[in-house]
Amino acid sequence: MSHSEDVLLRVDGLVKKFGELKALNGFSITVGKGKIVGLAGPNGSGKTTVINVISGIYKPDVGSIEFDGKSIYRLPSHKIVHRGINRTFQVPKPLAGLTVLQNISIAAIYGSQAGNKTETVKEALEIVGLEDAKDTLAANLTLAQQKLLGLARALATKPKMLLVDEIAAGLSSQELQWIADMLIHIHKSGISMIVVEHLMGFIDSLTSDVVVMNAGANLFRGSIEDASRNEEVIEVFLGR
Ligand SMILES: Nc1ncnc2c1ncn2[C@@H]1O[C@H](COP(=O)(O)OP(=O)(O)O)[C@@H](O)[C@H]1O
Ligand SMILES: [Mg+2]
Repeated sequence: MSHSEDVLLRVDGLVKKFGELKALNGFSITVGKGKIVGLAGPNGSGKTTVINVISGIYKPDVGSIEFDGKSIYRLPSHKIVHRGINRTFQVPKPLAGLTVLQNISIAAIYGSQAGNKTETVKEALEIVGLEDAKDTLAANLTLAQQKLLGLARALATKPKMLLVDEIAAGLSSQELQWIADMLIHIHKSGISMIVVEHLMGFIDSLTSDVVVMNAGANLFRGSIEDASRNEEVIEVFLGR
């Protein structure tokens, strides 16, 4: 990734403090155009904070974030969505009193600035396979369906990059395989991704390129195979 035009997202030296705690302590990551990068690390290492800071939910204290050659550092989240980054939530946050279709429609209106919204919503419903549940209230969905709805809402904003936070947690092995195939399909449509997971098994089904973080900082970047042989990586995973 030596040519800057091949880089879609460049995050450098992020610091995010919560009171005295440095949840991020100089974290950096780059994602190439069209790539999937896995982000792993033990619980509490700062993975969700990375996603929250990149997507503008939290404002970082120090660092830089460039997307598609332009700074998005400290922009509000709706502007970051308009630039082409959206995310899913580790704990799904649907608008519980609205239907699946209404949830996705609102995302399409909020997120994408042009194009046929009806078509966008239909496409997002199809990709995640929730067509039959389109009139169901979000509150009545299973956990797996709520995760799919979160994915559909992000897709309805037409992102160039998707930040996926622990979508695998709490799902059966069959649902996992299904979601992995779906993410591969979404990636093939041209969407780059950071896929956050606490363990590396799910990441392995999507990409061999992984960043491992610990205590808010970078520990390792390379292949999953090399990560699994790296002593520091082994230590942080076995140490918990
Ligand atoms: N909103 C917040 N307020 C205070 N502390 C937070 C907040 N969000 C995260 N943290 C803390 O920051 C650290 C990193 O959390 P998080 O990014 O959720 O880790 P991970 O996703 O890797 O499990 C943890 O110590 C967590 O308790
Ligand atoms: Mg998390």
